[in-house]
Amino acid sequence: MPNFPLPLDLTAAHALSSIHSQCWKLLNTAARGNEAGWRLPVLATSMQNGCRQRTVVLRNVQADRASLLFHTDKRSPKVQQIEADPNVSLLFYDHDLAAQLQIEGTANIHQNDDLATMVWEEGTPASLKMYCAPLVPGVVCQTAEFNTPASLQGRIPDRAEILSGQSTFCVIEVVANTIEWLRLSRDGNLRARFFYEAGRLQTAEWMAP
Ligand SMILES: Cc1cc2nc3c(=O)[nH]c(=O)nc-3n(C[C@H](O)[C@H](O)[C@H](O)COP(=O)(O)O)c2cc1C
Repeated sequence: MPNFPLPLDLTAAHALSSIHSQCWKLLNTAARGNEAGWRLPVLATSMQNGCRQRTVVLRNVQADRASLLFHTDKRSPKVQQIEADPNVSLLFYDHDLAAQLQIEGTANIHQNDDLATMVWEEGTPASLKMYCAPLVPGVVCQTAEFNTPASLQGRIPDRAEILSGQSTFCVIEVVANTIEWLRLSRDGNLRARFFYEAGRLQTAEWMAP
């Protein structure tokens, strides 16, 4: 897709609302396929003495709740960081769209509930296999370590073979509080911000890029 599609008339009353809808449409596209740049955002969490960022895969979005879903190993440090402080930020950039999103939101960990079951069932065995890892992610190892059971190494397992992974699998749901959009163009950059309350869009404003 060449560049982020803009409304024809940027001065029209509905211009911001049209950009907002387009953002969620493109996030939805990114969650459904591997190609889009917005598929691989950076998730930042805070810690006692700083912050930490990591790449994650966008798995699903629910535009009507301003919600974005990711999956992870519940033993990983980011889960403890979110439980201690649920304020997170997400950074997306899509080179083809020449568009960045900075999302600030509140994260929730879901395990063994309807949402976690839905995301588990949507996942492919290739993407869920890592949840069968015997070691806690991040522990120091004496030798090179794939952290995959020997029986699953080097192949894509059947669904039945990865069932045990469901006990370490969890979903991170981020509900947006603000989304800041920046679109780069030789003709001029554009920037806007959207504010939500309880997952509902409240206001939108243009910003100086
Ligand atoms: C392209 C890419 C996609 C990744 N996707 C995920 C993901 O969806 N979930 C996840 O927990 N880690 C994912 N990772 C690994 C994380 O970036 C990170 O290394 C790991 O989760 C440990 O993070 P933590 O120690 O901060 O908890 C991905 C890494 C890369 C390079």
